[in-house]
Amino acid sequence: MTGSTRGVTSDERGVLARYASFLPVTPATPRLSLQEGDTPLIAVPRLAAWVGVSELFVKFEGMNPTGSFKDRGMVVAVAKAVERGARTIMCASTGNTAASAAAYAARAGITAVVLLPRGKVAGAKVSQALAYGARAIALDTGFDAALDVARGLTARYMVELVNSVNPHRIAGQATAAYEICDILGDAPDVLALPVGNGGNISAYWAGFRRYREAGYTTSLPVILGGQAAGAAPLVLGHPVESPDTIASAIRIGRPASWETAVAAATESHGEFRAVTDAQILEAYREVARREGIFCEPSSAAGVAALRDSVAAGRTSADATCVCVCTGHGLKDAQFAPGLDDQAAPLPATVEAVAAALGLAERS
Ligand code: F0G
Repeated sequence: MTGSTRGVTSDERGVLARYASFLPVTPATPRLSLQEGDTPLIAVPRLAAWVGVSELFVKFEGMNPTGSFKDRGMVVAVAKAVERGARTIMCASTGNTAASAAAYAARAGITAVVLLPRGKVAGAKVSQALAYGARAIALDTGFDAALDVARGLTARYMVELVNSVNPHRIAGQATAAYEICDILGDAPDVLALPVGNGGNISAYWAGFRRYREAGYTTSLPVILGGQAAGAAPLVLGHPVESPDTIASAIRIGRPASWETAVAAATESHGEFRAVTDAQILEAYREVARREGIFCEPSSAAGVAALRDSVAAGRTSADATCVCVCTGHGLKDAQFAPGLDDQAAPLPATVEAVAAALGLAERS
């Protein structure tokens, strides 16, 4: 039909359609999509002033279909699994990977099994995974041991592993780097992001290098990885037995992508920085209050690390910086202010509310 006004359908948008030439897509790969990717790159001048740099952007990955960056890689991993005839996928997760795996499995008509460390996953993420129809299994352990179980199971049984050790995940997540370069016209000077299992930092570095090799950019960014101080194996240089932080998404002591994460930081002349829970929560609040961007606490670790790096004189105030805010605030709102934190309730009258607000009367 010509002259259709139906607009762009989901088959024409999304990571697989947009960046097919950079992805392991073959004619046999199903064109799976929930219209993931193409997330906002938002200029954030008030946050820049707080961080201490002249030019700052937030790449808001919370705007993906399931509310985190995981969707970029999951769509590729699930499409490739379906292409190979898989009927069941599996991951261990601190929550976001589980929600994403569950959504794309539903979309593809296959089954997702998610292994979750009991009592350590934000409730909304568990709700998401279950709502999408995943089989969720709680394990009495942390993320690291849960991932060991997922790897053991998928090596032995007919189940596809979709954790970020799956190279299709990394290839898909690299598309976020392409989008940043497409908007800025070149790579930024500095890219800061939270680091847990080490997959995303590896993906960004691979993406920036690939785009430069393809001739789309002329430079590479310095990559700054923020880790929670109580879960900072990459800062310490050794695994952490019992990682501890309020940033539950990155509560990881033994990153699976250790070598590639370290390569991203060192080859880019960047580093890993540990930030305390207090610094993470402060950054989390400033991102929301200064710019209207609500990300989850873990997501703010990159912002906190960048501010810390500027204060320490490691990052120049003149640098063009991008902070990746990896997940949406509604996923993990337990540290957000609540109504009970406000002043005591008022009588339900116009006069009482006007007096409390000190409003000027209309003349
Ligand atoms: N930010 C958020 C919101 C995350 O959920 C994760 C990881 C990261 C950052 C760190 O990314 O692991 O590639 O270094 N979440 C995983 C999960 C572990 O199971 O959802 P990474």
